[in-house]
Amino acid sequence: MLACLLSQTGRFPEKSLGMTDHTPPTDPSDTPSVSAEKRISEILGSEQAGLGSNVLAFASLEGVSVRDGHAHVSLATSRDNVSRVEPIRPHVEAEIARIPGLTGATISLTAHRATTPPPANAPSAPAGGGHRPFNLGGQSRNAASRHAPETLLPGVKAVVAVASGKGGVGKSTTAVNLAAGLAKQGVRTGLLDADIYGPSLPRMLGKNARPEVVDGRIIPIEAWGLKSMSIGYLVDEHQAMIWRGPMVMGALTQFLGEVDWGELDVLVIDMPPGTGDAQLTLAQKLGAKMAKGGAVIVSTPQDIALLDARRGVSMFERMETPILGVVENMSYFCCPNCNHRTELFGHGGAQEEAKRLGVPFLGEIPLLADIRASGDDGTPIILSAPDSEAAHAYTALASTIAAALAASDEKASS
Ligand SMILES: Nc1ncnc2c1ncn2[C@@H]1O[C@H](COP(=O)(O)OP(=O)(O)O)[C@@H](O)[C@H]1O
Ligand SMILES: [Mg+2]
Repeated sequence: MLACLLSQTGRFPEKSLGMTDHTPPTDPSDTPSVSAEKRISEILGSEQAGLGSNVLAFASLEGVSVRDGHAHVSLATSRDNVSRVEPIRPHVEAEIARIPGLTGATISLTAHRATTPPPANAPSAPAGGGHRPFNLGGQSRNAASRHAPETLLPGVKAVVAVASGKGGVGKSTTAVNLAAGLAKQGVRTGLLDADIYGPSLPRMLGKNARPEVVDGRIIPIEAWGLKSMSIGYLVDEHQAMIWRGPMVMGALTQFLGEVDWGELDVLVIDMPPGTGDAQLTLAQKLGAKMAKGGAVIVSTPQDIALLDARRGVSMFERMETPILGVVENMSYFCCPNCNHRTELFGHGGAQEEAKRLGVPFLGEIPLLADIRASGDDGTPIILSAPDSEAAHAYTALASTIAAALAASDEKASS
């Protein structure tokens, strides 16, 4: 039915988890209330007679949606554990259906696919790489080979990861403006939103289109001269929020192996915050491409003092990814009325810290209401106000990165 859905519409199904094909599509009204979702998690996590334990000891929760009062719960389990969970499923469904506001519940059990062992010389990725949250119809047999590190992003010359030690420091804003700035300078650029839990690309690029699927390949959404991909184009934001680690890793791997990125000089990746599994997966899978690009660490002046940027730098160093440098975001406040510059958190901290860490300093981005507004409006400020102070700062950043990419390309071809 899923393959049929795809061939009829040529559109990506909003939700198609693992091997099940009976999960209903989601729309915003499908989002369960927070309290219902919490209660469902509680039920799944509570001791069940007949199982001798709770459901979540044998299966992981992959998604919850509610349609017309009916809850649809997706659980992933191993083939061995299906027989343990299956007998108590009706009981758990009945318990969920008793939650106020719900009229019924269906639990879909998804057995893990067997994964093809990686080649002996391949780096090991965190568990869960075998998940393919997006069923592209009939292509799954080849998924393992498409996801081998050496076959990922075949037409992409280099990867630039935009990272930070924590969220909310302006990583996505920097990634979007850097990517748009590179494209403006004639660099063939893609932009991947790897922040599965907090995707911001659809809003920042002003796109809420659904990607098409052609021959089992996801076609990236074109915006502002960029090819872009984000979980936010594919599933309801809330849905991705409740995904578990293996699903996240699977989605990221599919974005690398099953998106038709075509020929690109660079793929800019808006990394998830922190230094967890997703970063490790990306760094391991894209080692060779990252070596030709590198990592841009975004930090605010106060976070530099709090060591967050240092953690980001040392993670990439451990992964042997070159550090292109540190960007200080929200560096100073520029009064829109009198142009007076106020250095709220002091000045020069990032530059000093970069020097101390032995990595380049890539510049300062001012704290400006227009930067936030353009992010919300869906046009990167580097394009909407090219003569602004913000655009100049992002253009300088893009030029530095373009020069680094050109040097790396030259080195590779000499
Ligand atoms: N230089 C800046 N000036 C003003 N607002 C900014 C600036 N950089 C980011 N923001 C705003 O701060 C918020 C967080 O930025 P975002 O790029 O989403 O951070 P992250 O991706 O690190 O979580 C957003 O509302 C964004 O518009
Ligand atoms: Mg972000």
